Amino acid sequence: MNVFVTRIIPEAGLQLLEAAGFKVKQWTEKRKLTNEELIEECRWADALLNSGQQLNREFLEASAHLKIIALNSVGYDNVDIETATRLKIPIGNTPGVLSEATADTAFLLMLASSRNAFFLNRTITEGKWNFHEPTANLGRALTGNTLGVFGLGKIGMEMARRSAAAFKMKIIYHNRSKNIEAEEELGAKLVSFDELLQQSDVISVHTALTPDTEGKFNLEAFKKMKPGAIFVNTARGAIHNETDLIKALQEKIIWGAGLDVTNPEPMHADNVLLRLPNVAVLPHIGSATVETRDAMVKLAAENIIAGLNGKKIPHLVNPEIYQ
Ligand code: DGY
Repeated sequence: MNVFVTRIIPEAGLQLLEAAGFKVKQWTEKRKLTNEELIEECRWADALLNSGQQLNREFLEASAHLKIIALNSVGYDNVDIETATRLKIPIGNTPGVLSEATADTAFLLMLASSRNAFFLNRTITEGKWNFHEPTANLGRALTGNTLGVFGLGKIGMEMARRSAAAFKMKIIYHNRSKNIEAEEELGAKLVSFDELLQQSDVISVHTALTPDTEGKFNLEAFKKMKPGAIFVNTARGAIHNETDLIKALQEKIIWGAGLDVTNPEPMHADNVLLRLPNVAVLPHIGSATVETRDAMVKLAAENIIAGLNGKKIPHLVNPEIYQ
């Protein structure tokens, strides 16, 4: 059986697929496939391992023969799940294994923003480190701050653990349901969205992109935040409104921002966010450690192996296909 892979993936994944007896073809060009190219490549395939492609209705309807689509990500907002479910195509994802790496990235961005780290690094490369000024280059402290987690699941929990341990931060969170583990272990407190905005010194976003969360952090939300607040997003760029975020930063409505995700991605090199001192931006590297990317691709390969052998898919996003 044949597996089409939309990017070059770590060896760990290829080995599993090949050891299971499948023929694997990877897309090796350094550009996205067009929808037509993806449809064409998938005609040959029984399974798709997808990284970075939008899987829309047109693609899914033309590829309904696929026995499994395994995403090399935990997020699945890039897939038209409703159509996949209607066509009874199982969609697998990679939960759990990237929580720590992604939380590390959120923590890094929080710290980088609070100390203007990326901006100050650029001043050195631009030859502007001339002498010591006690009143220059000042950041702001994090110790004893309140961290507000928007979406306290596995990744949010790791960010909360790191922040509580390193900076004695108090944890509040906004979720649809209580996170008992976080309440017991960290004394975390469930609050309304407005309370999260008003009480947090740092807000870290760890929720999925859904119609409910899209554009949730807009000017109205930023205006409710503290003037010293840092906004961190390692989830999806569309959860914040970028124009509003730029305004909030330029008008000092909030202190700073740390972004691993932008809207659109890739971010254009001319983007004003890249030049603001209290802003740290990374190119969507949340899960990008050797260990984590190996673990993710192994889960994706396991999903494919199960799907092509007619077995239960270990990490299935749309169990409704079996109803
Ligand atoms: C994920 O796994 O969802 C990461 O953000 C990569 O897209």
